[in-house]
Amino acid sequence: MDNFRFAMPTKIIFGKDTEGEVGEEMRRWGSRVLLHYGGGSVVRSGLKGKVEQSLAQAGLDFVELGGVKPNPRLSLVKEGIELCRRENIDCILAVGGGSVIDSAKAIGIGTPYDGDVWDFYEGKAEVTETLPLGVILTIPAAGSEASNSSVITKEEGWLKRPVGNDLMRPKFAVMNPEWTYSLPPYQTACGAADIMAHVMERYFTNTKDVDFTDRLCEGLLRTIIKQVPLALENPEDYASRAEIMWASTIAHNDLLSTGRQGDWASHQIEHELSGIYDIAHGAGLSIIFPAWMKYVYTHDTARFARFAVRVWGVEYDFDHPERTALEGIERLEQFFASIGLPVSLADAGIDSNRLDEMAAKCTDDGRRTQGSFVTLSQEDILAIYQLAL
Ligand code: NZQ
Ligand code: ZN
Repeated sequence: MDNFRFAMPTKIIFGKDTEGEVGEEMRRWGSRVLLHYGGGSVVRSGLKGKVEQSLAQAGLDFVELGGVKPNPRLSLVKEGIELCRRENIDCILAVGGGSVIDSAKAIGIGTPYDGDVWDFYEGKAEVTETLPLGVILTIPAAGSEASNSSVITKEEGWLKRPVGNDLMRPKFAVMNPEWTYSLPPYQTACGAADIMAHVMERYFTNTKDVDFTDRLCEGLLRTIIKQVPLALENPEDYASRAEIMWASTIAHNDLLSTGRQGDWASHQIEHELSGIYDIAHGAGLSIIFPAWMKYVYTHDTARFARFAVRVWGVEYDFDHPERTALEGIERLEQFFASIGLPVSLADAGIDSNRLDEMAAKCTDDGRRTQGSFVTLSQEDILAIYQLAL
């Protein structure tokens, strides 16, 4: 196990009716709030109305900015920064999913910064300051409610890039599973793929002696595999929605990274897909992750075989561990397909035309590699896109 430091400063307020506490929580962080949300699901569900009531009861002034799109755009972030400066906003409340939270994080770091906010996403500037951010989560998926990162798409060139800094973790996250009842089945499934991907990015590691976090990862994956079909069958099943929601936060708040090195190549390879084709991040991952696995599993067949046995209940073939490893990958693919996700580029209506372009973007024209479990070059990444066809 590697040395590590772990601090998870985001206060989690979990359960039924918790949205009523948001005004009091927000008041700790300022008096003029930017209320940030997406394309309207929070208006239709009635959540936005409840939030406004709670903010008003706590005596807070707020200005709103809706319209965040999935794969959130830089142009709206810039609009938000202007608005915050003009209105003297001192804290932000994001009500929605990963896209709204990431957009809010970008506005938070951009407002006090004397330069172009995209500098952070290009690695030209380091985050040193941000407006405090509170979150009300409506979709368990990205884990942004407790993560230190934000992923934004710059329309010019359709570049989707992340930035991470511990200052960017939300101050609190209100999580009431009941607000996820309205999720369309496809979004529930996309969320499942993202949650599983966050765990698997950490699970496939070269770090030795990490049995405890291996077991946490395996338990979390098994929870998702069990609970997601239940939530799809009965969208108002509180018990399964609650399990999925809490699992999604733990999958990406870095508890599972403690003492071990993660890989993250599949995420970077996926970001080129959702950046160019504007598909859901989870759907991109259900296509890319199995392809990545098929490409790299011989690097540590034993770890892939353990994944098959412990997560999927595959019987270990002592004579042919490779078969066990491949069976685990096959089960993952079957699971994704069974919950309605694409498992190939063709399933998502994507052809081979822009594979070279994506491999080039993902590696900055071959100037950088991706991954740490296996280090991938531009050629490797192109081969993974081809495997995913
Ligand atoms: O925009 P609205 O109308 O709210 O609709 C959203 C959106 O269309 C809808 N939705 C959300 N909650 C709902 C709901 N519909 C009905 N009922 C509800 N309760 O779902 C759609 C998807 O929302 P989005 O926020 O895009 O989903 P998600 O949470 O999966 O976020 C995806 C984004 O997060 C990034 C992804 O790359 C992608 O851009 N990620 C962020 C990470 C981070 N900051 O730590 C890590 C992840 O790996 C990921 O890269
Ligand atoms: Zn993800």
